Amino acid sequence: MDAGEGQGKGGRSGTAATGGADPPIGRPRLHGRVAFVTGGTRGIGAAITRSLAERGATVAAGYSSNEIKAREYLDQLSQDGLDASIHQGNVGLPDDCRRTVGEVIEQHGRLDILINNAGITIDKTVLKLTDEDWHRVLSVNLSGAFFLSQAALPHMIERGSGRIINISSIIGETGNIGQANYAASKSGLFGLTKTLALEAAFQLGRAGKLDPDGVGLTVNTIAPGFIATEMMETIPEKVMDAIKAKIPLGRLGRPDEVARVVHFLAADQSSYITGAVWHINGGMDM
Ligand SMILES: NC(=O)c1ccc[n+]([C@@H]2O[C@H](COP(=O)([O-])OP(=O)(O)OC[C@H]3O[C@@H](n4cnc5c(N)ncnc54)[C@H](OP(=O)(O)O)[C@@H]3O)[C@@H](O)[C@H]2O)c1
Repeated sequence: MDAGEGQGKGGRSGTAATGGADPPIGRPRLHGRVAFVTGGTRGIGAAITRSLAERGATVAAGYSSNEIKAREYLDQLSQDGLDASIHQGNVGLPDDCRRTVGEVIEQHGRLDILINNAGITIDKTVLKLTDEDWHRVLSVNLSGAFFLSQAALPHMIERGSGRIINISSIIGETGNIGQANYAASKSGLFGLTKTLALEAAFQLGRAGKLDPDGVGLTVNTIAPGFIATEMMETIPEKVMDAIKAKIPLGRLGRPDEVARVVHFLAADQSSYITGAVWHINGGMDM
């Protein structure tokens, strides 16, 4: 998906014909691409935003309520000469999902890469979870990814290429005491990813854009283990020690260790990887 090949900003050409080829020497791998990273101003999302931008993408970072942090982050990216914008929206609201995707396309002329990263936890045992605790986590973590993808897909199908990457969690595989809502939302992303991957390929085929040499429209999930971000700060020290004892590598992961898999999957050259779950967990679940 090398945008240099006749797909400038606002372009509407179909499949980019540079599929598996490496970009010309000296040109960043994601040059000309536009990426939208939800929850892209803090934690894992911030690392993803930066790594995509450093590889040449124009990045749009979503946030929900922490506007100060979002503006600070935008300033940092701009000072480093990276091309970025920020977009406020609650991914738990379908209208906000549609609006923010529309805003990104309007502002940057296109959307090539959607990273559904925004997520929350409200941890309580099943017997204590309220209706609101259940619905809120499901609406942000799972429904948000659905409504954002639904909004982005027609644009990607029209272009004949795209990348959707959902950030799930090891907890979606293993479950965890006190995280029924979170685990269900993150497991749900596996089924959503596989169905989106099938439908994306089907729709591309129907539009006559399933080009064997093209970039394709792929949908994948990343399932991180325990990564050192603010989300982890609420975990009591004793519980954290017990978690680390279960990680063969003996430490939490870093946000940049998740981001590197994201930019690998986002590259044009990753055109044959779709419907897959990528585990980044220091060997905690194998
Ligand atoms: N940290 C881990 O160990 C770990 C492990 C596995 C998976 N994950 C997943 O990785 C993702 C990022 O986690 P993190 O640890 O980086 O989280 P974090 O540090 O708590 O950051 C969460 C981000 O999501 C945004 N967000 C929260 N609610 C939102 C909403 N309703 N609408 C839009 N944006 C919203 C926040 O925006 P504001 O700044 O405006 O609040 C923030 O940018 C999540 O999906 C999480 O489940 C994390």
